[in-house]
Amino acid sequence: MKLGVFDSGLGGLLITRSLREKLCDLDIIYFGDTLHIPYGNRSSKAIYEYSKRAIDFMFSQDCALIIIACNTVSASALRVLQQQYLPNSKYSDRRILGVVVPTLETAIDRGYKRLGVIATNYTIQSNIYEYELKKIDPDIKIFQEHTPLLVPLIENDGDQWLDSVLKHYLSPILDNNIECLILGCTHYPFLKDKIREIIGDDISLISQDEIIPLKLIDYLNNHKEISQKIGNNDTIEFLVSDITQGYLNASKRIYNSEINIKHVQFDANKNTYFRGVEYDTISKN
Ligand code: DGL
Repeated sequence: MKLGVFDSGLGGLLITRSLREKLCDLDIIYFGDTLHIPYGNRSSKAIYEYSKRAIDFMFSQDCALIIIACNTVSASALRVLQQQYLPNSKYSDRRILGVVVPTLETAIDRGYKRLGVIATNYTIQSNIYEYELKKIDPDIKIFQEHTPLLVPLIENDGDQWLDSVLKHYLSPILDNNIECLILGCTHYPFLKDKIREIIGDDISLISQDEIIPLKLIDYLNNHKEISQKIGNNDTIEFLVSDITQGYLNASKRIYNSEINIKHVQFDANKNTYFRGVEYDTISKN
């Protein structure tokens, strides 16, 4: 069986790349719902429908465990997927994990008392980071800022505007004397260097591409019933629900090497994805 990595688009490639570095030989399927990105500006109903459809497809492709790399889905649909969809589906022995709680656990383990988080509109408005933090340690303070222009700029080659947009977004959060800044979106590890230049060296960065693989290693060690099912043949498949030259270019920029992306199709009558005629497409710049 496989480890699944799900994202609304291509940002999850950053976590996937570092998963491959740290858990080298695990068999992985990546699915990016490029047909519906961005999720971060959508309603919870739409996010749930899109992600349930994607998760259902990934389980049908033999994923034993799916990491939802997307913070927006982790903020909105994760609990319903885990508690309602999964037990009532034919995949009740499989597992789905999100990224918000492991990210907060890392910040807490590192002893930070004043956290900042930047993320999509949905993630910030859902208040998921504060909600989960209060359950773990109510004394820690968190300051949040929604940063909706960052994903479109990353996905559409808008590097020339990133510095000024980042300065604008980060300035209010930096007024709060934070000790660490959580990058609460799949795409933001791509901006680590630029963000570091703006925030200086005294504030730590928590970047999910660095911490989620470590958390996953812990999980797999503690859940042999899942880890034993996942193959170790060093295979990876990159699947997306829509493909354009722009997505191919973005995938290469984000993954930092050429990858072979396959387009899976959507059957509107059955409300499912299926592997019909597949385009094997190599991303090129
Ligand atoms: N994957 C989303 C997240 O991490 C960002 C892109 C989107 O808005 O769909 O929140």
